[in-house]
Amino acid sequence: MPEALTSPPAAGDFAQRVVDWQRQHGRHGLPGQGTRDPYRVWLSEVMLQQTQVSTVLGYYARFLQRFPDVGALAQAPVDEVLALWSGLGYYSRARHLHRCAQAVAQGHGGVFPRDSATLQTLPGIGPSTAAAIAAFCHGERAAILDGNVKRVLARALGYAADLAVPTHERALWRRAQALLPGSADMPAYTQGLMDLGAQVCTLRRPACGSCPLRRDCVAHARDRPQDFPVKTRRVKRSRRASTLLWLCAGPHLWLTKRPERGVWAGLWSLPEWPAERAAGVGLPDWPGQWQALPPVEHALTHFDWTLQPLRWTLPKDVPATERAPIEDTLGAGRWVTRDEALAMGLPAPVRRLLSEASGS
Ligand code: ADE
Repeated sequence: MPEALTSPPAAGDFAQRVVDWQRQHGRHGLPGQGTRDPYRVWLSEVMLQQTQVSTVLGYYARFLQRFPDVGALAQAPVDEVLALWSGLGYYSRARHLHRCAQAVAQGHGGVFPRDSATLQTLPGIGPSTAAAIAAFCHGERAAILDGNVKRVLARALGYAADLAVPTHERALWRRAQALLPGSADMPAYTQGLMDLGAQVCTLRRPACGSCPLRRDCVAHARDRPQDFPVKTRRVKRSRRASTLLWLCAGPHLWLTKRPERGVWAGLWSLPEWPAERAAGVGLPDWPGQWQALPPVEHALTHFDWTLQPLRWTLPKDVPATERAPIEDTLGAGRWVTRDEALAMGLPAPVRRLLSEASGS
């Protein structure tokens, strides 16, 4: 069963060690630190999900410059939000961010709710993010349980139940809640658990020698940190291959708007074609020349994607009457210069392709 074999650490002592360690050894230059402004803390928490701190810093500063408060973000066109997010990945975060800002502006008088229970009702804010915002801004005693923190707690407590089972995850959450310190220490404690997960209690090479919890860490006592956490149902990754059509007409290239659902939802991109077209199979009868460029490998959460760019250059003098049926085949989109394209919300590999390849 899930319980630790050794006696559980006393809550006060456990929390105090995390807090002391965070103050001395944890991270202190993160985007949302040094403020209790819920807008800034929320923005930083969302950006830091699945993205490295070094990447987030620049995006965070640019975002705040353009959208200094939640009202400014709520009023912006979503395309502008996506353009500023471009390159951070996981674009549903940006759409939720925008929707959340609108919900705060319209449903809460422009003020973020204070408590984690209400924060959770907002778009894109899950229980862990809500707890982090409430702990950082108001010292609420709410436990976070993101992937890194699950690992720290499962190892420290020797929690051996399968966390893919919701009841087991809820039980760990209750254990996490019981370990919380008093309100004044909640910001350092919350950050400390995240820092331990990211820097000490790592997935493959935990640095137990530097860990403030090793004294009564069950996984360390058994010399089996890699046995925790237990999670059986893993997402099976699949493979996909597509051709990306880079269609050029003079100084312009064609960008299309991706559907509102699915991969790269709502972003501008090169039209996606079936993979075999890059080998010349099933190509339309268009004028001009085409050339397959080197393929690009791109990893998404659930699959690995081979993107094969196909550059198609229409003749300079192609008349509008010949362009119109081509545009009809491609669906919603528009002609833009490469500079204009680079200012739009593009998926990271498309941005890289357009900025790195020579010619237009
Ligand atoms: N990921 C999500 N929130 C974070 C934080 N506050 N610090 C580091 N990584 C995080």
